[in-house]
Amino acid sequence: MSKSKLALLGGEPVCKFEKTELWEPDRERELALCKRIIDERAFSSTGHPIAVEFEEKFRKQVAGTKYVLAQNNGTSTLLAAFFAVGVKPGDEVITPTYNWICSFAPVTLLGARPVFADIDPETLCLDPADLPKRLTDKTRAIITPHLFGSVCDMDPIMEFARKHNLAVIEDCSHSHGASYDGKPIGSIGDVGCFSMQGGSPTGKPVAAGEGGVVATNNRHYYERILALGHLNRYNLKDELTEEPLNRLTTAGFAAIKFRPTNLSLCIATVALDALPYRNRRIQENYDKLLDLIKDVPALKPVKQYPKAHNAGYYGHMRIIYQPEACGGLPPEKFAEAVNAEGASLGGRVYWGWHRTPPYDTGMAYYDDGSGPISPSDGYEPPKLEDYPNANAVIPNIMALPTMIDPPEGYIEAFAQAIIKVQENYEDLL
Ligand SMILES: Cc1ncc(COP(=O)(O)O)c(C=O)c1O
Repeated sequence: MSKSKLALLGGEPVCKFEKTELWEPDRERELALCKRIIDERAFSSTGHPIAVEFEEKFRKQVAGTKYVLAQNNGTSTLLAAFFAVGVKPGDEVITPTYNWICSFAPVTLLGARPVFADIDPETLCLDPADLPKRLTDKTRAIITPHLFGSVCDMDPIMEFARKHNLAVIEDCSHSHGASYDGKPIGSIGDVGCFSMQGGSPTGKPVAAGEGGVVATNNRHYYERILALGHLNRYNLKDELTEEPLNRLTTAGFAAIKFRPTNLSLCIATVALDALPYRNRRIQENYDKLLDLIKDVPALKPVKQYPKAHNAGYYGHMRIIYQPEACGGLPPEKFAEAVNAEGASLGGRVYWGWHRTPPYDTGMAYYDDGSGPISPSDGYEPPKLEDYPNANAVIPNIMALPTMIDPPEGYIEAFAQAIIKVQENYEDLL
């Protein structure tokens, strides 16, 4: 144990770097692909094959499913997936309470309501053991968000879903390139959804500005997704083969356009090709950092299920703070001290929707007081005590940066900042 003055208390910071990420996407290629679209004046994907080219590339390199469709964002892929599997008014859809709202809130637009499940405190994923508690005769589907690179335990979830005739929607928005039991995520449940929001390197692992991909092995679901949101898509008429969808015009069911723009797909194409490098480097750097801080009792790595190959790591890598290893020092204070040393240690991103508006009390969607989560329509707000794991662990979730090509010495200095705070936490009590 070495005593030194914490930067938070006026000491010298140990991690001094102006730039912490040196990797850049291939801008020349981004420009060249976008130039082709500009030269051809082919901005809309109506009647243009670039969407089909991109989809085939994404299908082979990431999703591994029979069918994929590019869309305008991840949220629309989720809405399309819930529609495809037949989520209807009055249905219930199970989601872990620790999730991003876009993952489950689209069910409310279909008149269904989310039912929150607890999480596994070691992996921070949906806890399969909690599913029976949330099942009712209205349950129609389960959402498995593979958050921040962590892959859910798909075997027990699929077994439960098949036993109770539930659809499984995998939200893969944070974890492009991850797999479970050798199968790409998104190809295990009934439909897989990928956001491509943001720009490389800070955005989604495959980033398009705004964009999404929906993937499935099921022809029926594929055609329902096409018919819902791909008005005037290239080749739409030929793709709608099933009765009665084959009677539709190119407007589909509802004249909705969830198609992406061609410029977004150009940016995403470059990000897609960089994905294997990005994922490999992030994992190597994460492993290196974890090794350097393995003797720091205040930070415990998030566990991975034995069959899971975590990857993607959108935004950050999570780690779980152990207040008892620092005399009860609050997580915010620990993070503040590490940040003062020059190492950016973030806090939890989600709080748990069982305790967050509008789901904590419910809310009317319509002026007459009705709606899927309106208490007057039978919505029963979740009880805080029904989420012991989420309540205990979420306040202690911390965020390490994802690093592709950090500058020389940065990982060591980052680790040093953490070690220094661990060794001197008593000065903060
Ligand atoms: C887990 C998760 N699902 C879905 C989405 C929705 O994606 P988009 O912003 O592309 O609509 C996001 C966006 O950040 C997300 O984090």
